[in-house]
Amino acid sequence: MTATRRAVVGAGLAAAGAGAFPARARDRAMTASGFWWGTATSAHQIEGNNVNSDFWLAEHVKPSAFVEPSGDACDAYHRYAEDIALAKRLGFNAHRFGIEWSRIEPEPGKFSIAELDHYARVLDVCAEHGLAPMVTLSHWTVPRWFAARGGFEEPDSPELFARFAEKVGQHLGSRMAAATTFNEANIVRLLQLSGLIKPPVMKIIGAMFDACAKASGTTRFANVLFADREKSEAQFVKAHDLAVAALKAGPGSYPIGVTLTMQAIQGEGEGHRADAVKAELYGPWLDVACRADFIGVQTYTRFRVGPEGILPPPQGAERTGAGYEFYPQALGETIRDAWELTGRPIYVTENGIATNDDTRRVAYIDAALAAMRDAQKAGADVRGYFHWSLLDNFEWTAGYAQHFGLIQVDRTSFKRTPKPSAIHLGKIAQAARR
Ligand code: GCO
Repeated sequence: MTATRRAVVGAGLAAAGAGAFPARARDRAMTASGFWWGTATSAHQIEGNNVNSDFWLAEHVKPSAFVEPSGDACDAYHRYAEDIALAKRLGFNAHRFGIEWSRIEPEPGKFSIAELDHYARVLDVCAEHGLAPMVTLSHWTVPRWFAARGGFEEPDSPELFARFAEKVGQHLGSRMAAATTFNEANIVRLLQLSGLIKPPVMKIIGAMFDACAKASGTTRFANVLFADREKSEAQFVKAHDLAVAALKAGPGSYPIGVTLTMQAIQGEGEGHRADAVKAELYGPWLDVACRADFIGVQTYTRFRVGPEGILPPPQGAERTGAGYEFYPQALGETIRDAWELTGRPIYVTENGIATNDDTRRVAYIDAALAAMRDAQKAGADVRGYFHWSLLDNFEWTAGYAQHFGLIQVDRTSFKRTPKPSAIHLGKIAQAARR
């Protein structure tokens, strides 16, 4: 570990005693079922009609930063069994999906047993098909009532999140193979750093949340994706810790991790600020990962950093459909970072590309997996790879125009059609297990 890297991790790593990459008993237990090959999805992006969520409201007020509402999405709320069977047929042995807090707790303290049962059925279908389910507790959406009371800016928000986690653990714990708390816990940091959201869009987002507050009869409407970091990050960290404790106290024995957005951070030229950008991107979350059972690495591209900060992609570089640089080899770098900075077992919980040219998805997958294998050879303890995503889905503010899926979904019949990339990755997954 270099001095600069040590500076990034700070005291937390030393406190966790992770520097020597200890092989703890609980880590060995996690390898028992072999390498996990799967795809990643999120509740709001595929289920459809998530009407009690903060995002549903934000999609329908004026102005809205969303180019279109999520609507029926992929109707996966009803078609999950078809999707899981398809994933199995393609050759996967694991499945990452999200459960929706706003369905499970539609009103404060009122938990729906029927909705918990719904997710129990999803988990049962995973088990029937031999797919190890990794469950995300919070993939950016929160119940509308939770956002309307100030979201994670409120001092008691960690306890509310933990109460939800406890119900989930009690009801679903014995069926889960792995769980994560927040999807990309450091996403607000990435958005701030990367300048991905331009000031005019920020203005619309502000007006959108004002409209959401007004529609909810309140003065504040605080969401996760666009949260005010100063006001909420400490509560996010506490919510993670309390949720882990709540899940661990419940039935079942499964690893619990946290997923981070990790892009390759490369210094360019003398006086570059790559180390500072890295420290800023991860903030307190590496310490959190150091005390987790595993770290979920979510990688899409790289950021080159000069003395003034993040640089645009090199002239003429290929861009993906999401606008950022086509740079699949980033995954090797982020896995090495995750390993060096935390020493925890790693799952690649997201990696993928928005494109309408499926041959570029195949190329992306091949290059990303080659980089992953190199990182494994160098010693990184990678336990699984989940491609983002199983289905073409609702890509947040960009709506349905960006296609990240291995499977195409007809927007009105909901018919699923696997793309060649789905067959390709499925074959890799099968071959790797032989
Ligand atoms: C993320 C989210 C996903 C996105 C995907 C493509 O990492 O941004 O977890 O919900 O859809 O990354 O942008």
